[in-house]
Amino acid sequence: MPILKNAWILVADDRIKEIGVGALPEDSRYDEAIDMEGKKLLPAFVDSHSHLVYAANREDEFAMRLSGKSYAEIAEAGGGILNSARKMTQASEEELLADARKRLSALVKMGTGTIEIKSGYGLSTETELKMLRVIRKLQAESPVSIKSTFLGAHALPEEYKGRVDDYINLVIEEMLPAVAEESLADYVDVFCEEGYFSLDQSMRVLEAAKAYGLSAKVHVNQFNSLGAIKPMVDMGAVSLDHLEVMDDAEVEYLAESQTIATALPGCSLFLDISYTPGRKLIDKGAALALATDLNPGSAPSGNMALMMGLACSQMKLRTEEALVAATLNGAAAMELSDDLGSLEQGKLANFLVLPQEFTLASIPYHMGHNLIEEVYLKGNKIV
Ligand code: NIG
Ligand code: FE
Repeated sequence: MPILKNAWILVADDRIKEIGVGALPEDSRYDEAIDMEGKKLLPAFVDSHSHLVYAANREDEFAMRLSGKSYAEIAEAGGGILNSARKMTQASEEELLADARKRLSALVKMGTGTIEIKSGYGLSTETELKMLRVIRKLQAESPVSIKSTFLGAHALPEEYKGRVDDYINLVIEEMLPAVAEESLADYVDVFCEEGYFSLDQSMRVLEAAKAYGLSAKVHVNQFNSLGAIKPMVDMGAVSLDHLEVMDDAEVEYLAESQTIATALPGCSLFLDISYTPGRKLIDKGAALALATDLNPGSAPSGNMALMMGLACSQMKLRTEEALVAATLNGAAAMELSDDLGSLEQGKLANFLVLPQEFTLASIPYHMGHNLIEEVYLKGNKIV
């Protein structure tokens, strides 16, 4: 990872026009000069996996966990994703948008400039569309670059109990066409896990989505390996996410592929489950991305600096690896690495300013303290 000293960046409109070191070229023209002497500029964080749009926090379930219930037991008792889905049905589009807007602006203050947001708390055509429309409104109004993912197969709604295949048919035959009709999603996702959707059911959804031009970013290997990694790599998944449970053959297969491996260490911390084998994946040649998984059930923190801290202390990444995972590789996990994720000529002018007293290592070291002094997105100072 190159580090430029005594550098300057020329920004025109929303992009980086030129980057250089030392004196500015003599013929340089600019309207405004901002002195960053002594400070450090980093690319803004890219959070490539979130469930930012949701209707209510689930502190009550947290209390249940603290009294000894597991995530699976809470889900079986009607909590979990279905709890969020019930609340989602009741919330209006305006309420959801207002909440999501607040959450997103809190993330920007912590340095996030790009985010992927999933549906998946709707679990009916109407409510999935409602979530996706909220994401679209955020896309239109926010300086944050946003990608949208359709996650209709996130959990089985109560009324489909014992009829998983019927629900998969609904996702494929009714939801997908409706989502595509309004161009509401960039990607498709499925929760491929015991008690949720099998490998076959997941593959059916992903294959069907291909016909609508939606590539896959998938929840796999969180609690169990259902053997999804090979077939999903082979079908061209852009990213495979979670990956807390992997055997060596799976690590190797994913590492040798073009699919991005996305670790969500905030989920490991909150649920007290194992961490994605990030060190092993990188050593075998994988492109590893770090994301927050921000959601009310398994990962309530949207703090990318904390994810870098966990990646270093728990997954044994080096500081530079954690930064690349939290920026450029996250951008690649949304097919945005030509535009975002690093400070390079032609890319969007999205950067963070660190004050003089901190170094790059200060970010993971301080475990989520917000050290960022200023945030620029698309050339404008936002924070
Ligand atoms: O990424 N794993 C599945 N989905 C979310 C959790 C959703 C929830 O509990 O509300 C996740 O961890
Ligand atoms: Fe998730």
